[in-house]
Amino acid sequence: MYYESLKSFPDDFLWGASTSAYQIEGAWDEDGKGPSVIDMAQHPEGVTDFKVASDHYHRYKEDVALLAEMGFKTYRFSIAWTRIYPKGTGEINPKGIEFYNNLIDELIAHDIEPLVTMYHFDLPYALQEKGGWSNRKTIDAFANYAKTLYENFGDRVKYWLTINEQNMMILHGDAIGTLDSNLENPEKELYQQNHHMMLAQAKAMILCHQILDGAKIGPAPNISAVYPATSKPEDVLAANNFNAIRNWLYLDMACFGRYNSVAWSYFEEKGYVPEIQEGDMEILADATARPDFIAFNYYSTATVEASRGNDDAKNSTGDQQIVIGEQGVYKGHTNQYLEKTEFGWEVDPVGFRVTLREIYSRYNLPLIVTENGLGAFDKLEEGDVVNDDYRIEYLKKHIKQCQLAITDGVELFGYCPWSAIDLVSTHQGSSKRYGFIYVNREEFDLKDLRRIKKKSFYWYKDVIASNGAIIVEDKN
Ligand code: BG6
Repeated sequence: MYYESLKSFPDDFLWGASTSAYQIEGAWDEDGKGPSVIDMAQHPEGVTDFKVASDHYHRYKEDVALLAEMGFKTYRFSIAWTRIYPKGTGEINPKGIEFYNNLIDELIAHDIEPLVTMYHFDLPYALQEKGGWSNRKTIDAFANYAKTLYENFGDRVKYWLTINEQNMMILHGDAIGTLDSNLENPEKELYQQNHHMMLAQAKAMILCHQILDGAKIGPAPNISAVYPATSKPEDVLAANNFNAIRNWLYLDMACFGRYNSVAWSYFEEKGYVPEIQEGDMEILADATARPDFIAFNYYSTATVEASRGNDDAKNSTGDQQIVIGEQGVYKGHTNQYLEKTEFGWEVDPVGFRVTLREIYSRYNLPLIVTENGLGAFDKLEEGDVVNDDYRIEYLKKHIKQCQLAITDGVELFGYCPWSAIDLVSTHQGSSKRYGFIYVNREEFDLKDLRRIKKKSFYWYKDVIASNGAIIVEDKN
């Protein structure tokens, strides 16, 4: 739809950006923190670990001051479960509570609304040793952890996110580093784990609504609209299949409290049906287990064609945004109309609007974007300058589509690109940078870790100060 004039961003729009604990904090074993699955994982050759990351644990005050200088209204960060409960359950670590109390207070002192992810890939290793998400006890460990977060931080945190990208942990556990490769039948086991995570999420939502007055909670999946490669009905059906498996399975459960029927038939066909115990579906369908909003991460769309069951389509690619496919279900297709980033991710700003519209019309809940951004090999030039014009271009085009989606009637209340400051990528190290703030380190040389404002820092500051108006006025 072409509009003569666009609606403005709402006055209280939450401009900000995101990070996650293990990718930014460092201090991996300090002050009583226990090991997580990420700390114990193997890293690809040539790629750094997460032990120091951006050293945010020791520099959070300086970092928050920089976010405030950009004019952030909100900041999305995750809490490391293993700082609060070093073993996942049992004794609380007071030092962990203290760190997040300090961070939250610092944000509030700078008028920045904390937006907290409870769990971003870093499951406590002590729970993993007992079966991780395959073990039903992890459901209650998560609910107990969530309760502890509400009790300690709920007086100041109004926006909660349960699990980051549960769908990517299931579909691309090898890229994220969460998949246990020793599993006998990985897919069946993964969908069992998925069922347990859904229950954990439902319990956390129920508790949030019980314990905290006025707090809001939502899921945080990675959602991509799925295009058919052609208008051939078989390709459209394949897109429909992948949409169900990649996107709606997760949001239908969170928002409607039931399994998506296409995804369920896929489980039956492939032998992935999870074991459901008595009472599970009642918890999932509980009226107070419904989210107040949907947070989602968007990097690109996906394009698929039909798979006849005799091609070489297989499930995972080892990268969360690249689709290969699954025999007889769908097959990844390169979209000839889209450019790719240096890391092979398709760039599709218009697809962002499509995705926003699809989610909103399907669930009719307020939306917030909790990740969107461009990973690149930024170059630090003489005089502490980083000319990341490509990032500005990427973000500008995507913010413009947010505006168009708002004009379409989508209730979008915030935008938090990835990432606030440079951090370590999930599987491609610290040289793949996303931040507005450069962190002076290399893959294996920690240098001085000093913070340097990139060109995009100043640009985003102007975007926020104008409440997005400089994007609207820009006719390009
Ligand atoms: C999302 C994750 O999948 O994408 C983040 O929630 C991640 O943790 C981001 O960093 C970008 O992906 P990558 O692989 O480039 O770090």
